[in-house]
Amino acid sequence: MTRYKKQDPEMTRRRFINTALGASAAVGGLSLVSTLGGANPVFRLTPKKAPPMEGDVIVHADAAKYGQPVRVSELSDKLIRAWPMGKDDKGADVIRDGDPTSVLAVFRFPKGELKDPTKLDATIDGEIVVYGDRCTHAGCNVDNGTAPDGRNIMNCPCHSGQYEPREGAKVIGGPPSHPLPQLPVKLEGDKLVVTGFFLSVPYGYNKEEDWEKYTEKVEELLS
Ligand code: FES
Repeated sequence: MTRYKKQDPEMTRRRFINTALGASAAVGGLSLVSTLGGANPVFRLTPKKAPPMEGDVIVHADAAKYGQPVRVSELSDKLIRAWPMGKDDKGADVIRDGDPTSVLAVFRFPKGELKDPTKLDATIDGEIVVYGDRCTHAGCNVDNGTAPDGRNIMNCPCHSGQYEPREGAKVIGGPPSHPLPQLPVKLEGDKLVVTGFFLSVPYGYNKEEDWEKYTEKVEELLS
């Protein structure tokens, strides 16, 4: 399970960045490939390539609004693609767009439409939900789609994978074997803020154990 320690966020951010960048520089990067078993070895933990994590603000990925915070008033049952935005070692905003697995899909549904296995306590008021937007089959970006009954769903353009965003992004068609990962969020003012790591395995991690080891390593570097 994801764990968090009480700590000065600025101190931990600096330590994280210094550790990641310093270690990478010291050994030339590639020799630091970890044995974590996932797609993202430790040396990739730069601010830009870090996964969505606690405190990140969700911002638009589309060119017209790139980097602007996603607002509640913009949301609907149609997918809005987004990135997490954190801070660098100088406290400046950094959009974590250096790893395609961090791309996000944001929705808002009328109350009551989000159902199990959606983790409702990781949504905003049971209405706003965020998922990883990278298809669990082969990693393409998932987009808007339409079900036979006309409701908006998520559709992968590569091999017609389909996901139901109202039910935990479960697979409802095509070859994906498991759902898109849900990202826990809360509202701070009018911004959507991340409260933890993806709740299940994103693309690139074969086993939950691999993802947990990776997030534990991220936490270790942040502590
Ligand atoms: S990559 Fe999405 S269905 Fe194959």
